[in-house]
Amino acid sequence: MVMRPKSIEWTLERLRKPMQLSFDFAREPTAVTPKKASSPKGYTGLYGFHKYWGKKPYEPLAFVIEQLTDEGDTVLDPFVGSGTSARESLIRNRRFIGFDVNPVAVELTKLLISPPDYDSVRSAFRFIERSVKDKINGTYRLNDGRIASHYLWENDTLTQVWLRGVRGGGREELAPTAQDIDLVEEYASYRSEHIRAPRFFSNGRINAHANLSISDIMTGRAQRNLDLLLSYINELPPNVQMPMKLCLTAASGQMTKMVFAVTGRGKMTGKNSAKVEVGSWVIGYWRPKLHFEVNVWNCFERRVSKLLKAIKEGDPLQGSIICDSMARFYEASSRSWVECAPSQTAIRSVREKSVNLILTDPPHSDRVPYLELSELWNSILGFESHFSSEIVISNAKERGKTPDVYSQAMNGFFGILSSVMRDDAFLVLLYNARQAARWRFVSQIIDKSGGLKYFGKFPCNYSAGSVVQDNRKGGLKNDIALVFGKPDADSRRLCQLANIPNWSKDAPTK
Ligand SMILES: C[S@@+](CC[C@H](N)C(=O)[O-])C[C@H]1O[C@@H](n2cnc3c(N)ncnc32)[C@H](O)[C@@H]1O
Repeated sequence: MVMRPKSIEWTLERLRKPMQLSFDFAREPTAVTPKKASSPKGYTGLYGFHKYWGKKPYEPLAFVIEQLTDEGDTVLDPFVGSGTSARESLIRNRRFIGFDVNPVAVELTKLLISPPDYDSVRSAFRFIERSVKDKINGTYRLNDGRIASHYLWENDTLTQVWLRGVRGGGREELAPTAQDIDLVEEYASYRSEHIRAPRFFSNGRINAHANLSISDIMTGRAQRNLDLLLSYINELPPNVQMPMKLCLTAASGQMTKMVFAVTGRGKMTGKNSAKVEVGSWVIGYWRPKLHFEVNVWNCFERRVSKLLKAIKEGDPLQGSIICDSMARFYEASSRSWVECAPSQTAIRSVREKSVNLILTDPPHSDRVPYLELSELWNSILGFESHFSSEIVISNAKERGKTPDVYSQAMNGFFGILSSVMRDDAFLVLLYNARQAARWRFVSQIIDKSGGLKYFGKFPCNYSAGSVVQDNRKGGLKNDIALVFGKPDADSRRLCQLANIPNWSKDAPTK
């Protein structure tokens, strides 16, 4: 039990009371043009708050929903990820069913389709701030009382201590003192009590292996500070607990030893800079030799401010009810049904011929091993990951996720999918893969799916906005949106899709 002063009890009491909604429900979502659908702007607002892997921009999804469905229709995304298709459907008054095998993805989807209100999140943040900010900052205190923002490490040696610049001033880079080393030592043997031990896998391309533990990727000090945050977040009422935990997961990569130091900027232009800059966690569980340890409080605070900024003006979906069972969804007590389950089994609960549009971005072969990469987040949230159910190709040999197993799973799943589609329904699949063999399941969709027709395709550009990710071998920056329909699908609905630059009727496969 965490001891709390009286003022904090008062804050918690306020948080438990239902908040007044102040949003103007008459506000209409802005219509998306064909041009905007093919060249999206990027991730802002709620879409920018968490770096879920392989997120899709909202514009092409919104455009497809607007063109191929009407209000009240049902949209299904069996690989919903962080919830973009869910949010865009519900904002447009469609009903929505979504599944994902990844627990953190499902929680992010729920946040996107039923965001918390600004006042509750702000009060929750103030409570956490009053409870732990000083305790956390105490672990980064210099001998002159100032608080360090970053530490630069070369393997296990602390080489620099940085202080964030204040009021436009530049940062200060200091040599570590005895006090800095003592603080590191004080927490060196700390092991987290609140984070479930993450499961790691081998990856020969980077220095990751199955025997890693949380201490290989996080200093004892970072673990202790993360524990402090979690222990107070656990005291919050349920409506704000998960949003705060999601902020913590969003910030957690930046709290690890996987934050690489960027050196030698400008090499290509001949202006090689000696300056070191802070990178980020992007490449699996790669532990760079030269890395940063970032002040945990600062990481958390930055993420919460992003969330607060995104919900400040209210949100049309705030307070929406989400159900997690088929029965309630079909009783129409809620417009959305979102479940953490493998789609191969969850799809059996969807009623036959009930869906108007399947809009999905399934796992793209070996592009992102979602569960492996999300393991740190799921450990923080205390959720188990069911690795065996994931459809993916993985470098981790011990998982047995080979190309053949992947192709079988994709063929099997897309083979049965059409049974839930109405006779006039559409299927839009966002896909990309380097090898031609990974496209075979797409031809199977037409051959095996009870009369699905192929209409055409359009390019759908997106970029993770990360230099490392975008330039990585195989780090594809665009998908192809493939459009299929049942025999009675109204092809007149496609006329706007055909206005998307580079729309084509060429074969759907590579
Ligand atoms: C390409 S991502 C979807 C990203 C999403 N469009 C977004 O914008 O965030 C594919 C998703 O499929 C999920 N997935 C993989 N295997 C699955 C399975 N068997 N059942 C359900 N979801 C699965 C992954 O967890 C991942 O979130």
